[in-house]
Amino acid sequence: MSVIRRNIQVAWPLRVFFTENVFAPDNSTLRDALADVAPHKVFVVLEDSLSQALPELEHQIEKYFATHAQLLSLVRPPLFVCGGEPAKNSITLVSNLLEQFHRHHLDRQSLLIAIGGGALLDVAGFAAATCHRGVRLVRLPTTTLSQADSGVGLKNSLNAFGQKNYIGTFAPPFAVINDFNLLATLKPRDKRCGYAEAVKIACLRDPKFFAELERNADRLVAFEPDAMKRLIHRSAELNLDHLATGGDPFETGTARPLNFGHWAAHKLEELSRFRIMHGEAVAIGMALDVVYARDSGLLAAGDTGRILTLLERLGFPLFADELLNADDANHPALLAGLEEFREHLGGELSVTLLAEIGRSVEVHEMDPRRIAAAVAELRARAGR
Ligand SMILES: NC(=O)c1ccc[n+]([C@@H]2O[C@H](COP(=O)([O-])OP(=O)(O)OC[C@H]3O[C@@H](n4cnc5c(N)ncnc54)[C@H](O)[C@@H]3O)[C@@H](O)[C@H]2O)c1
Ligand SMILES: [Zn+2]
Repeated sequence: MSVIRRNIQVAWPLRVFFTENVFAPDNSTLRDALADVAPHKVFVVLEDSLSQALPELEHQIEKYFATHAQLLSLVRPPLFVCGGEPAKNSITLVSNLLEQFHRHHLDRQSLLIAIGGGALLDVAGFAAATCHRGVRLVRLPTTTLSQADSGVGLKNSLNAFGQKNYIGTFAPPFAVINDFNLLATLKPRDKRCGYAEAVKIACLRDPKFFAELERNADRLVAFEPDAMKRLIHRSAELNLDHLATGGDPFETGTARPLNFGHWAAHKLEELSRFRIMHGEAVAIGMALDVVYARDSGLLAAGDTGRILTLLERLGFPLFADELLNADDANHPALLAGLEEFREHLGGELSVTLLAEIGRSVEVHEMDPRRIAAAVAELRARAGR
């Protein structure tokens, strides 16, 4: 037997730009983000909800590209497609996008600019990653959650076979541009969802940021722009720090701290047929796991109380009836989420729990009775 071994190292600059009115004629953010690349074909895809929410956006985009035509040529008018979780529930949108890319002869130097919420960005990112094995992707996230969390990461995905994110790749974006003005038209519920991921990353990495979220909770509930901007900026920064320094950006090991609260969250989204949005499900999933961690002797009661209280103050319900669903064998349906989570990540089960605000631990089994007790406590706390 003989073997040839080499280590292949790929450095990938991750850039998240912050701006307002990205398509204003005098805004140079997008042009600057693309400054190092040769003249390009650009394909813009954006989600339908934006055509109602921001009717002038399409015209602004066309005007912007007309102004910068020497550097960037738009291969067709911006393409509107469906967004939200339904966009992730079938492969149809991906095949339609790939067919469009083919028709317009995109190549690996071309740019896909995707504008939308986390769901649309996941689908468009998958299409970009699989076209010619990867055309450049510029994300313009339009929800709090996608600006703070999903849009600045390395993953894309679709749901399949009743499982969240079953299909997908790791594919770093060429650039991300967070335009705060794009959030103005979000419904309160969609504005709030991103707060859950901010609490998550604060719990995992930054006790000072957690305390800041506590101090700013009333301003955040009132959607005060400065408080929201600060939440988005610090969350994005912490996510990038984690990707750059965490040692496992492509998640090859079993420990996935960024998935704190997510084993139950993904199952709840599915059990509720996506009535519960991702951010709302993450809030409940974290609440469940902090109560569980306290009952396991890992997390102090004081920290547990602070996390539950902050989530409630930010407006998240911490209980949903779906937590009580039973499967065909009359077992709690939620528990299947643990095995699905294990299988999705591969190898042995590894669930991130908190040891204190700012420090996590991995556990490799969870006691169903303690999970049931945590569900019962959240139910009682919600007065149900
Ligand atoms: N790739 C990752 O690493 C990662 C990480 C976390 C979450 N996610 C995924 O992100 C998705 C959730 O993202 P989300 O919270 O952004 O939800 P979303 O994409 O479903 O958007 C929420 C709603 O807001 C609408 N919308 C979007 N932008 C708008 C705007 N500017 N004005 C008015 N309405 C607008 C959408 O059409 C949708 O109805 C989930 O599918 C989740 O699995 C992915
Ligand atoms: Zn998430």
